[in-house]
Amino acid sequence: MCDCRKPPAESVSVVPEVTRRSVFGVAGGGAVVGVVTACGGGEDTANGGDPTGSGNGADDAAPGDVDAPIASTDEVPVGEGAVFSEHEVVVTQPEEGTFRAFSTRCTHEGCPVDQVSDGQIQCPCHGSRFSIEDGSPVEGPAESPLEEIRIRVDGDSIVLA
Ligand code: FES
Repeated sequence: MCDCRKPPAESVSVVPEVTRRSVFGVAGGGAVVGVVTACGGGEDTANGGDPTGSGNGADDAAPGDVDAPIASTDEVPVGEGAVFSEHEVVVTQPEEGTFRAFSTRCTHEGCPVDQVSDGQIQCPCHGSRFSIEDGSPVEGPAESPLEEIRIRVDGDSIVLA
């Protein structure tokens, strides 16, 4: 556990005459940068904290990376879809060869939608269901559509556009 209030030993020895109070009062000083760096390591939450990945070779992409592969086309069944939680994206295929993608964030209270079944995107928290064609709510309590995510098909890969 990092004690961010305690300056690292090297900053004290590099600037021995600087008091702790003056170090934290100086904006942009080298000692301040050292403190920030010392507190920044060890935790990776950029992908939602899921270190397991999906095993599809697209695990290096972070949510929002343009041109990042998020799935392969054969992972998305026709008339259904699949949730790629590591990318916070649900990809659907309403008709063969037509792919759509939406944010997994439910528009009701923000739970992540967790599956596509019976031809609808499902939220586990309060039962909202969304269209696989346009993300619109089919059954409440959500009243707004899921945010659409721009994608394109590149060979067998679905990538963020
Ligand atoms: Fe999805 Fe409530 S958060 S239905």
